[in-house]
Amino acid sequence: MMGIIGGTGVYQIVERGDLQEKKVLNTPYGESPPISIFRLEDQEVAFLPRHKEGHDLPPHMINYQANVYALKMLGTDRILATNAVGSLNESLKPGELLIPDDFLDFTQTRPFTFYNDRAVHVDVTQPYCPQLRETIISNGKEICGGVVDGGVYVCTEGPRFETPAEIHMFRQMGGTVVGMTGLPEVVLARELEMCYASICMVSNYAASVSPEKVTIDEVFEVVEEKKKDLTELIHNTILSIKHDRNCPCSQALEGAEIE
Ligand code: HPA
Repeated sequence: MMGIIGGTGVYQIVERGDLQEKKVLNTPYGESPPISIFRLEDQEVAFLPRHKEGHDLPPHMINYQANVYALKMLGTDRILATNAVGSLNESLKPGELLIPDDFLDFTQTRPFTFYNDRAVHVDVTQPYCPQLRETIISNGKEICGGVVDGGVYVCTEGPRFETPAEIHMFRQMGGTVVGMTGLPEVVLARELEMCYASICMVSNYAASVSPEKVTIDEVFEVVEEKKKDLTELIHNTILSIKHDRNCPCSQALEGAEIE
């Protein structure tokens, strides 16, 4: 089953599907938000709104462990996430969709692993699932006039936006976009041997990339404009991805622990 984690402005995605039930799961890490299970043609899909409906949960208060674990409990083996991001470069414009292939983790306070009682070191040479990424990118050609293939997602702790010096540093380090919610989600998914890819919606230029002040209204406006494209891209990706997983994600724990 495919799991979708909807980011800012993406609280439901079932318009073309058939909603079956909505449920809250009790995980060892706490309760999940209400997860919608719906049918899309011959497939069952689980949808989890990362910020809960109405965006009342700030990025540093999200229970990433409960969210990822709840999807695993439902039998989800792949996660497609959406993340609103700021662009670090003028050439990457608000409204564009980018499929990251690497990350820089600047989070500070979030529980970032499922393994505190044994030493498990998962490999993140390819942190985002290559098979899922490829399927999104090939579907993106027809729907959105092309998505950007690859880029480095920088995750900050938030909830404030960044300073110009931080943005300058991130750019020098090779960052492409900046957001507050991509980590530790991507790593937690890998620790449970789930595939994970993100569709990043560029909602604004990051602080000092443009002279304008960064506002949350701007972020929501752009996400609202792109939602139709995004929904279609997600639906077509789910319907066209090969059933068999031919990526490293499903064996992530092999070689991660001393035998
Ligand atoms: N910075 C951090 N997170 C964000 C931004 C940004 O500019 N835009 C959307 N999420």
